[in-house]
Amino acid sequence: MTGDSGARAAGKSSEHLVVDGQSVAFEHGQTIAAALLAADRTSWRTTRTGRPRGIFCGIGVCFDCLVTTNGRRVRACLEPARPGDVVTTGPVSTDVTESPRESLRESPREVPHEPAVRTGPALPTRCDAVVVGAGPAGLTAANAMAEHGLSVVLLDVGERPGGQYYRHCVGGGSGAAASPRFRTLRAELDRHVVAGRVDYRPRHQVWTLERTTPPIPAPAAAPPADPVWTVHAVAEGPEPSPVQVLAPAVVVATGGYDRQLPFPGWDLPGVVAAGGAQALLKGSGVALGGPGGPGGRVVVAGSGPFLLPVATGLAQAGAEVAGVYEASRARDYLRHARTLARQPGRFGEAAGYARDLARHRVPYRTGHAVVAAHGDERLTGVTVARLDGQRRPIPGSERRVECGTLAVGYGFTPQLDLLVEVGCDVSTGTGGSTAVLVDADQATTCAGLYSAGETTGVGGAALALAEGELAGLAVVAATGRPVEEQRKAGLTRRKDSLRAFADVLDAVHPLPVGWLDDLPDETVLCRCEEVPVGAVREAVRDLGAGDPRSAKLLTRTGMGWCQGRTCAAATAALVGRLTGSPPDGTDAAALARRPVAQPVPLGVLASLADLPPTHVMDSDEPSGGTAR
Ligand SMILES: Cc1cc2nc3c(=O)[nH]c(=O)nc-3n(C[C@H](O)[C@H](O)[C@H](O)COP(=O)(O)OP(=O)(O)OC[C@H]3O[C@@H](n4cnc5c(N)ncnc54)[C@H](O)[C@@H]3O)c2cc1C
Ligand code: FES
Repeated sequence: MTGDSGARAAGKSSEHLVVDGQSVAFEHGQTIAAALLAADRTSWRTTRTGRPRGIFCGIGVCFDCLVTTNGRRVRACLEPARPGDVVTTGPVSTDVTESPRESLRESPREVPHEPAVRTGPALPTRCDAVVVGAGPAGLTAANAMAEHGLSVVLLDVGERPGGQYYRHCVGGGSGAAASPRFRTLRAELDRHVVAGRVDYRPRHQVWTLERTTPPIPAPAAAPPADPVWTVHAVAEGPEPSPVQVLAPAVVVATGGYDRQLPFPGWDLPGVVAAGGAQALLKGSGVALGGPGGPGGRVVVAGSGPFLLPVATGLAQAGAEVAGVYEASRARDYLRHARTLARQPGRFGEAAGYARDLARHRVPYRTGHAVVAAHGDERLTGVTVARLDGQRRPIPGSERRVECGTLAVGYGFTPQLDLLVEVGCDVSTGTGGSTAVLVDADQATTCAGLYSAGETTGVGGAALALAEGELAGLAVVAATGRPVEEQRKAGLTRRKDSLRAFADVLDAVHPLPVGWLDDLPDETVLCRCEEVPVGAVREAVRDLGAGDPRSAKLLTRTGMGWCQGRTCAAATAALVGRLTGSPPDGTDAAALARRPVAQPVPLGVLASLADLPPTHVMDSDEPSGGTAR
């Protein structure tokens, strides 16, 4: 790495952090991962077997990008870079005796920082509703409830509202976060915050929900509630602190993350999730393979329409995109022509992407997949193969494509931890995706718990917006307040139409599980625990594992830092192929169970008993929440 490098693309970096003793420039608003990548560092830690690791998911799900910053171990893709940060790269132990919860709090920070969450009046410990997630779904839910006079606490891991879709680009820009729709949502939120109806807290990670007996009286607007939910969160900052909020209703809108399948070499630095590449581009202005981004030529691969904005975004940012390889075939859409015809806007969108790809001379191949990644310390090329009707590679069709970056993803999978842990029912869609079950009002099978957006089935931002608003209105109705029936009916029609379209996408872009049959035994299945595919085969064939959970217990797949978020879908699919019974909702729920959904420092757990006295938020009382 060269000294005083980084943020080369824009050439307007003005701030510096220190990486292994060298000064690295970054732009205000970039993450530590973005600063490292812009300084041409594609890997910055090694696993316990010595394999190099850098960024993969890009949104805090996989833990590959762990790095020590100011003495604390942090996820580089989430942690904002700040002037004077002292970053140390190198081995990070994944010893099972050291949980992320312990390691994230291993020593005090060396450099004092401006607190990430502005301090103000204490968060209320009681309100009418808590919303977890400030993406499209969470924002419309919170706004709808506040509009009807409910007191709402809105908690999100991120620095700013908007979630994955309305991502704020470094230096502003013209992305989705600058769109009129988001500006309206944001203005509404700010109005409710100022009026004291919404207490919005960024950088608050919700780690569990708990059914609780109400210890204090409910605010005026709340219904006689049973159960009452306690939402447990960690307020991030130099000194993470515990937060508990009680509410009769909780809307969980935690979104999703990229769904992956293993192939030889998929853990090499340079292989990133498609969503991760997009997050880096939209959020930090780093185009992998583009000017100022590391990685040489780019290949985009996987399945689903999301590959198109990723490829065109990178190409427009100056990357040389060697090709887009889509596992499904265009003719798979023909079986759903009637549903597709009801969404003419989508054809226009697809045509726009096709034009962009043509303009940048990016080949788009359907029925193809990347089946291997090559390189020693970092990616140097991939093998692409044609797939047969069972989506297995056709022998003899393989060819090598030289590239330094592979952006890969097979659609998204919902983030269900909080919901599954408290017993909400889940279902499995036609394409193998899992989602929490909700009724027409977005109510889950647990009383008082609602869900909206990707958690109810991956369907895109427009569907998330509609579902969030419906969930908000349902909570309002549950308080006995009147709800505009026409508004609700319109939202329901929109939701149904968008959901039908999403179901088609799910069916047309399933996980191409056929190729799991041909994977070499030594292919890494679980990146965190470095469990090979062969170990799971052995567990099923020789040790009697008849379901994914047994395979997990026998091999440790899914027991690493990410708690199976990255490998669970593939593990379930592999076990399904071997046993002949594809994973169902029960398997999915078993693999999505995570008692602690986000890292919690042990000190925070220990201090739970010392939380301040209770404080009730209602519509007449200003909350002092943060407007950012
Ligand atoms: C990495 C990535 C990039 C994407 N890029 C695009 C794109 O460019 N174009 C496009 O059309 N679609 C994109 N999508 C899909 C799109 O973002 C979704 O369709 C849409 O954002 C769904 O809205 P949502 O509100 O359900 O979830 P999200 O927008 O994902 O919002 C969920 C929010 O919940 C928060 N959260 C999650 N867990 C917790 C927790 N435990 N505690 C507190 N907060 C939590 C997250 O920080 C996030 O802000 C992307 C998805 C991902 C995963
Ligand atoms: S990939 Fe993280 S636990 Fe398996």
